[in-house]
Amino acid sequence: MSDEGERVNSLVSLLKRRGIIFPAFSIHGGVAGLFDYGPVGARLLRKVQNQWREHWISKGNIVEIDSPTITPESVLKASGHVDAFNDHASECRSCNAIFRSDHLIESHHTNPDSLDSEELGMIISNNGIKCPSCGEQQWHQPRPMNLMFPTRIGATGGGRAAYMRPETAQGMFVTFPMIQRHFRNRLPFGAIQVGKGYRNEISPRQGMIRQREFNMAELEYFIDPEAVFENDLSNWNDTRFQFIPDPKGGDSETIEMMISDALDSNIIRHPVVAKFMAETYDFIVSIGADPSKIRFRQHESDEMAHYATDCWDLEMFGSYGWIECVGIAHRGCYDLEAHELATNSNELRAWREFSKPIEVEKMVASPISSIVGPTFRERAKDVGDALMSLDEMPTSFPFNLLLDDGTSVSIEENMVEVKQIHDMIRGEWFIPHVVEPAFGLDRIIWHLLDHGYEITEKEGEEYLILHLSENVAPYELVVLPLFEKDGMSEIAHQIRTKLISLSGINAYYDGSKSIGRRYARADEIGVPWAITIDYTTIEDGTITVRRRDDQSQIRISHDDLIQYVSTNSLNTLF
Ligand code: ATP
Ligand code: GLY
Repeated sequence: MSDEGERVNSLVSLLKRRGIIFPAFSIHGGVAGLFDYGPVGARLLRKVQNQWREHWISKGNIVEIDSPTITPESVLKASGHVDAFNDHASECRSCNAIFRSDHLIESHHTNPDSLDSEELGMIISNNGIKCPSCGEQQWHQPRPMNLMFPTRIGATGGGRAAYMRPETAQGMFVTFPMIQRHFRNRLPFGAIQVGKGYRNEISPRQGMIRQREFNMAELEYFIDPEAVFENDLSNWNDTRFQFIPDPKGGDSETIEMMISDALDSNIIRHPVVAKFMAETYDFIVSIGADPSKIRFRQHESDEMAHYATDCWDLEMFGSYGWIECVGIAHRGCYDLEAHELATNSNELRAWREFSKPIEVEKMVASPISSIVGPTFRERAKDVGDALMSLDEMPTSFPFNLLLDDGTSVSIEENMVEVKQIHDMIRGEWFIPHVVEPAFGLDRIIWHLLDHGYEITEKEGEEYLILHLSENVAPYELVVLPLFEKDGMSEIAHQIRTKLISLSGINAYYDGSKSIGRRYARADEIGVPWAITIDYTTIEDGTITVRRRDDQSQIRISHDDLIQYVSTNSLNTLF
């Protein structure tokens, strides 16, 4: 096995042993693509989720919502997922193993995502691709498979067709009117959602990278397509981003430039997309990813999802190579328009006020009140309004006029006169466009673990450290009595309680086994700080502070410790 393979196995085994992340339902034989986050992992996940929420909500015009994960079929039919959310599957005739066709031909085509069944089948047969399971070359023709998990809402036999949601995004689109009201109808604004997504992946093989139920975090940002965005990108003038604007290339075609230059030279096609790419990069770095292992890859038009008009993947480099972890897509008006069409409504629109009202001449069917009044009495006003808002002038009489309340009345020729009038138009309704950063949190967490995992040696034995950022480490500090006697554990408990109540830090107590074993246990789950209570603590109130990353130690009074921890500046002591 390669060194890298051994490293991944070692990390996976640590994640399982220490209750971070491990395959789900293993006592029942396990299910590929389903994972548990254990006691330590769930804290890590929660912290990443909370950092992500804060990152976007702090912008001021972004709110969080929470939608059902069970979604009626009609919603996903409208969004295009029922018809188009497919991957191609190739099944081996000899051993019945099933694989994603595009994955089988990855080394034979630069953009396998864009190919149809026939093209995929040709490449598989022309290149003599063998079944990775049994080595035979006998394939069924690739066939598209929808990735959604179907279900039914309601009692057996009846009910309504539904799916487990494949993305959280649809929840934001169908609640757009509420979100718009919340923001007093002022674009731009956004809504985020953090929650599970479900995809019945054909062959989930790369651990946490390809799961069947996974943690998504998505932002849908609604904009006026005619607005001019002068987003200031100067915060990122010192950052050289890695871009692959031509996705045909491998690593050699990566270019490095400022994000503002990529926008000015039209490599990135929209200023809001550029801003979110930079914000996304900042988030990923803020939770501890190695910046040199982050790049942006642009989709080719035939590789893009069915809704997208410009799409970039933020890819992270790790043990599985470069992997997409965030998709940043300009979805245009695709989704809102699709839901309007499917529901025959016009609610998913925003109002654009003209800078100056426009004067127009228009023809109207004006009611003759001396006839309409007595004929329709209390309904005369509704009839008049309906006549005035007719788009086409009546040419034959009598005709049926539909009123707002859904009823209709018969209009005779002597009730209307067609007139030309002046009108002032103050604005217009339009369907907003959407820019969406869609994060896969499990893939990001995998890369944080991968980037932070160090296999080293201590006293001739293997020693494992997870260098996790303080922003997401499951615990920030561990409190260790040198021995659980002579009052040391009582002091340790008191300090832990004080730390939690005065600084809000996540601290835990560990008194079991030797101090060396306890440091090692804390290093393995990425705890950045350990403090030790010993005999000197009893004498003078000082404690030892140990830093995970270089295992250096200092001594300070425990009052100073609380002060430094509260201001997040323990590092300044070293
Ligand atoms: P891929 O091409 O790898 O299947 P995708 O293009 O289908 O991914 P998106 O639809 O853009 O992915 O989903 C948004 C994000 O959700 C991805 O960037 C990724 O981080 C994450 N994601 C997608 N599918 C999975 C999965 N099966 N398991 C874990 N995370 C996933
Ligand atoms: N919402 C983006 C995706 O899931 O594809």
